[in-house]
Parts: sequence; C-alpha cells; structure tokens
Amino acid sequence: MTQSLRVLVATTVLGLPALAVAQHEGSMELAEGAAKPLVQGLCSACHPVSLITGSTGYDKEGWEYLFGNMVDLAEPIRGQISSYLAENYPATGKYTPKLIEGDTKIAFKEWKVPTLGQRPRDSLMARDGTIWWAGMFGSLVGRLDPRTGEIKEYRLDPTARPHSITEGPNGDIWYSGNSNGTIGVIRRATDEVDVFPIGNPDVKDPHTMAFDENGILWFTVQNSNYYGSLDPATGDVYVAKPPTEGARPYGIRRDSKGMMWIAYRGAFKIARLDPNTRELTEFETPNYGNDPGKGWNIRRLAIDEQDNVWYVDSAWGEIGRYNQETGEFKQWQSPNGTESHPYGIEVVDGIVWYNESDVRPDVLVRFDPATEQFQSWTFPSGIGVIRNMSHTPDGNLVVAQSSTNRVGLVLVGEENIAKYSDILVSQN
Ligand code: HEC
Repeated sequence: MTQSLRVLVATTVLGLPALAVAQHEGSMELAEGAAKPLVQGLCSACHPVSLITGSTGYDKEGWEYLFGNMVDLAEPIRGQISSYLAENYPATGKYTPKLIEGDTKIAFKEWKVPTLGQRPRDSLMARDGTIWWAGMFGSLVGRLDPRTGEIKEYRLDPTARPHSITEGPNGDIWYSGNSNGTIGVIRRATDEVDVFPIGNPDVKDPHTMAFDENGILWFTVQNSNYYGSLDPATGDVYVAKPPTEGARPYGIRRDSKGMMWIAYRGAFKIARLDPNTRELTEFETPNYGNDPGKGWNIRRLAIDEQDNVWYVDSAWGEIGRYNQETGEFKQWQSPNGTESHPYGIEVVDGIVWYNESDVRPDVLVRFDPATEQFQSWTFPSGIGVIRNMSHTPDGNLVVAQSSTNRVGLVLVGEENIAKYSDILVSQN
C-alpha cells in the first residue's frame, strides 16, 4: 500500500470533521460520466467533492498535477479520472488574480512533502534553522532541513490530526491534537512524543498555540469556543470561555509586553489576554455590526515591532490594524477585493505580508503601511491555501500550501536571495 493510500484509509476510518474550507465550494453532486463513481469514491476520502465542482477547473495535465499531490494513482485509473475531470471541469480562468507590480524582489523555494494529501500547514523555522509543519490529514508533524532537503515525518496517533505547531522555549516542537483534545510535544533531545490530554470533554479541538513569557502554553479552541493554557512542567490545564457567544477563538500571538492576542473567527472582534491575571478584554473591529451575509471571518493575526495588532478580515477581503497606543482601528481592502479571502498574515520589519486564498493561482501580498502600497506575486506551485505564516530571523517567510502539498520559504530581498542561492539552484 502506498503512503498516500494509508492516509486515505486512516482519514476514511476517522470520518470527516467539519472542514474549515477557504476554497470555493461548488455542488456536492458530480457530473455524470463513466468515471463518476471512481472520483466519488477516491476523491471524497479527505474532502467533499464540492472542492472539485467549485474549482477553477484544469486541463487533463493540470488535473493530474493537482491530484498527484493528494493521491498516487496508477494507470488506467489516473487517466480515466483526469479525462473525466478535464471534460466536466475544464480550465475556466475563474478566480484569476489581479497582481500589483512593485520594487521588492522575492524568490520562492518550495518542497513537496512525502505523505500525499496531508494538508501541510502552520509551518515555522525553529531556532536551529530546520523547518517544521503540521500535516493535519496525515496526523503527522514534519521536519525539513532546508540546506539538504532532508525530511522526516513524525507519525502521531491517527486521531490527533494536528492543526498547528509552535516552538517551545527549549526548542521542543508542540502540536495541537485538533481531533482528540490533546496537546503534544516532540522532544528534540530524544525525538520522542509526549501527549497531554486537555481532559475536559467540552474542550475538543485545540487550534493555535503561543507561549507566554513564563513558558506557559496558551491555546485557542475554535469549535468548542474556548481558550486555555497548559503548564508544560506539571501538565496542569486551565480553560475559559470568551464572553462573546460563538466567538470561535482562532489565531493567537504574544506582543512585546507579554500580552496574548486572540482573533475571533465568529465575531468582528479581537481580544487581549493578560496571561498573569487571566483577564480578557475584547475589542470590536470596524466591521462590527455589519452583516457580511456569509459569516464572520477574522482568523489570523500578527504583531509588529510597535505592538500594533494586524489581522485579516476575510469576510470583507480586508486587512486591519489595531493601534494599542491610540486605540484606533484602520482597515484596507485587499487588491483582489471582497472575495479575495486574506488568510495567513505576518509582519516583518514593519512590512505586512499575507495571502489572498480565494484566487487561483493563490497570491502573496506585500503591504507597506508607511506608503499604503501593495505589491503581489503568485505562488509557484499555484494551488492551495496558506493557512498561517511565520518568519525567519533573517526576515524570510515560512509558508505551507495545502492542495499542492508544499512547504516553502519566501526569500525577501536581494540579500536573502543571494544568501540562499545554493538551495534555490540545487533542489526543486
Ligand atoms: C489523502 C487526502 C486527499 C485525497 C484522497 C484527495 N485530496 Fe484533494 N485535497 C487534499 C487536501 C489536503 C486539499 C487542500 C484542502 C484545504 O486546503 O483545506 C485538497 C484540495 C483539493 C482541491 C482544491 C484545490 C484548490 O483550488 O485549492 C481539489 C480541486 C481537489 N483537492 C481535487 C481532488 C481530486 C480530484 C481527488 C481525487 C483524484 C482528490 N482531491 C483526493 C487532500 C486529498
């Protein structure tokens, strides 16, 4: 059995938890045709077929490239499926993005990760220069050495399905067991995995995590609507519900004063949490009170060097900034408009980076708050959703693309491109 099929069986057995889909969702009914049952059977193991019917569409080769990152199919099945898809879902050019030119130079480096269809996400560069990610559908955490291209995948309990990872104060890699209510850690010294149950049946799906200044791990719990903390030394867990009903705590980051900031997926709000007093204060963003007709959608946030809190308002296709000093909010529309679905966001050296996840190919956007100018590029592997971003000490971005099963580095500026020129040339 190939690796991808093992994943396929595991995910089928597990059943499908509600997918936080950012892709276009089409009909749940596939077009008639000889290969329909094959597609129905093989392609709905990890996600609904509405991702296929709602996609921009591809030619036969394009379909084989795309699903070749998800399942390893032999002929004649591969050809039967790609012919059926190309006939019924041909390339339409729908969702083609508008790009904005500018002076900043960047270069992309992407690595295809071994287990197909694993939904890589939430990648980061650890202090030792290795790149890590969560492979949610594969229930694994991966490690990549960007200099050599060497990859290791740590298989977790198949019920864990990690949503996110973060690096601990001593370099251990922590993951959130999104499907089994646990937080786990890969001990770098031994390569062993330790698991801490949250131990509360109401707190099911730990989501994103960040350490406070005292080494306590704080986490959000989106669907269960909680946030909480874990003391790694004792395993003690604290959980609380946000005051806003249906807040759905999502992204979490720490500012330079040690405050934890939380984005609410289920309200036009962000919240500040004092980890010492556990006091939580909520702030309404400018679209509060607006009915977007398609739900709220503040997912990720990032903090700049002045402790401004930046966030994506995906419901309105905007990015926003909360100035802690003045208490002022300001939002900007993303170049591809209301439907662009900004998602992962990071701030490096005062520059805001994020992706527009509802265009194909998907787009990386640079925004300079000083000039209010945008610049944008398409990702080379082209298709998928970047669900989170982080940065390296030298100012590059670390990304992961869900559909093409890639983990990547975005090298920012000519100096960084030159510094990494050996990996840009030697591998692809
Ligand atoms: C082993 C799991 C797995 C299987 C099986 C699988 N996929 Fe996927 N597919 C994924 C993942 C992961 C994504 C990204 C989902 C996300 O971002 O939430 C995805 C996304 C997609 C998308 C959306 C692309 C976009 O625009 O982002 C399409 C279309 C798609 N798959 C087609 C297929 C087809 C066709 C098959 C069957 C031949 C298939 N998939 C089988 C894992 C799988």
